[in-house]
Amino acid sequence: MDHTTVDTLGRPLRDLRISVTDKCNFRCPYCMPIEIYGDGYQFAPKSTVLTFEEITRLAGLFVRAGVEKIRLTGGEPLLRKGLTELVRQLSGIAGLRDLTLTTNGWFLGEQAQALCTAGLRRITVSLDSLNAEVFGRMNGRGYGVTRVLEGIAAAQAVGLQPVKINAVVQKGINDHTLVELAAWAREAGVIARFIEYMDVGNRNGWRLDDVVPSAQVVAAIHAAYPLEPAEPNYRGEVAQRYRYVDGRGEIGMISSITQPFCGDCTRGRLSTDGEFVTCLFATRGSNLRDPLRAGETDEQLLARIDAVWGRRTDRYSELRTAETQLADRKFEMYRIGG
Ligand code: GTP
Ligand code: 5AD
Ligand code: SF4
Ligand code: SF4
Repeated sequence: MDHTTVDTLGRPLRDLRISVTDKCNFRCPYCMPIEIYGDGYQFAPKSTVLTFEEITRLAGLFVRAGVEKIRLTGGEPLLRKGLTELVRQLSGIAGLRDLTLTTNGWFLGEQAQALCTAGLRRITVSLDSLNAEVFGRMNGRGYGVTRVLEGIAAAQAVGLQPVKINAVVQKGINDHTLVELAAWAREAGVIARFIEYMDVGNRNGWRLDDVVPSAQVVAAIHAAYPLEPAEPNYRGEVAQRYRYVDGRGEIGMISSITQPFCGDCTRGRLSTDGEFVTCLFATRGSNLRDPLRAGETDEQLLARIDAVWGRRTDRYSELRTAETQLADRKFEMYRIGG
């Protein structure tokens, strides 16, 4: 880092989420409903997708602007060809403290070792339920859960540590299966995190009625396995932590609807096609790809990053209203990686 860029609300830029592909083999209805994302759907044309060299160069500049943690996302990041090479390049950036990835786990079994060898430190796997029928419905493909569990086991075996799982909680869909998921995670040595279903994008038909407040999920798990609140690991941590009283691990709650956490939001996002996006709910980003390809110097690109972050006012989750939900032009989550 050679300086810290701060936005209009005094929040530094510390985390960068990089979407390496907008494609996915799943069709989770809350993210890529299959009725819209059918076989003929056109994802970002190859010419607009950042190359590994472009991503690594921009990532290095983001680190100079204050970023300490990079998370690779998608779409499904393990679908990006040669991803381990990108991990290798990014892990060599001086000043980067944390390099991780969020995946649906389908291709994890075959890639875990190579990712770890390339310099990935830990991993987060999306896993909404262990119930075959519920999981099949929530991945939109009817896929079973076994292969994802094998991927998680492989990640643990090669030493990616910790392994976390993310479950999106949807009322009447998977909320009756969450205690079982928490129980499994405790046994498996995995940190389970529960995400309130959010109104990201424009296409999932989100309704407030579909949200289960995190407090209810905590209460249900607590009744089976007593919990106590734990301190955040770092400023701006998204998940609120709870540890099991018996010492068998912890869970995290991501409560963007009932307890927004914009005040400490230090996250920027780089889309598959090189847009720098300063909020998960943004309607537009700042294109870094074109200036990069036009030959701007590192200093010029860094000045752009600083300027965009310096103007940042985002706090969507704190301001969420009927009008903002209707704003029909939000980025879709799979383009900016959640
Ligand atoms: P750690 O690095 O392990 O603390 O995890 P993380 O919370 O940074 O990353 P992860 O990708 O696992 O985040 C979990 C989920 O929280 C995301 O997939 C989103 O659904 C949600 N989330 C992450 N960042 C934000 C954010 O800035 N705003 C909102 N509203 N939701 C977020
Ligand atoms: N609300 C909450 N979480 C979501 N994710 C995707 N769409 C939504 C949504 N609408 C989660 C995925 C994954 C992470 C990248 O974001 O399940 O864990
Ligand atoms: Fe794919 Fe993740 Fe979106 Fe599901 S939530 S469709 S796994 S990108
Ligand atoms: Fe950050 Fe936007 Fe999420 Fe608020 S809504 S925490 S500003 S990404």
